Amino acid sequence: MNQILHQPGFLGTNANFAADMTLTLSVMVAILFTGGVGLAVKGYYQAHRWTQTTAAALNAILILWLMILPFRDFIIKDFMGPRPAIFYYVTSAHAVAGFCGLILGLFVVLRANNFILIPKALRFNNYKLFMRISYALYMLATLLGIWVYLTWFVSIPNPPTF
Ligand code: HEM
Repeated sequence: MNQILHQPGFLGTNANFAADMTLTLSVMVAILFTGGVGLAVKGYYQAHRWTQTTAAALNAILILWLMILPFRDFIIKDFMGPRPAIFYYVTSAHAVAGFCGLILGLFVVLRANNFILIPKALRFNNYKLFMRISYALYMLATLLGIWVYLTWFVSIPNPPTF
């Protein structure tokens, strides 16, 4: 598995297979989120709940599996190191938007599925507002993620690979 992830990517850039897979899956998750919004608008709330729960879970897996470690090693440990400043700024902005989207999104999922994990004081009923904010953050993080990809694997000749 590790060998496949470290092979050259399939999008014809300097990225390896893992980064191309992350980009492709993240865009698919963003499309899934958008389809889920469409289901809610049409009144299919049950299908909407399942779609958004699946998308939020897939997104969390991608972050924990493929983004946390490169973020720690190439951005936190090496901040303003040898690469152009834009590399650090874009990735940091992406991580902040992504982190807020992840936390708020998982919070909405836990609440919407009536999981009892959330303490009473933190429970909310204003679903629409929270869902709209987390959808906007997911989309922002995805767009910034595409910019991260272009910065890491298109503009820099020797990109960091994990
Ligand atoms: C809503 C949440 C998020 C979405 C939709 C998202 C999406 C993406 C996308 C599309 C890419 C480009 C593919 C790539 O370069 O591999 C990417 C890369 C990256 N993201 Fe995220 N991301 C999210 C959250 C985060 C968070 C919370 C962090 C920080 C811990 C983070 C750190 C990174 C890093 C370091 C990369 C480059 C990884 C590499 O290619 O080796 N992301 N993300």
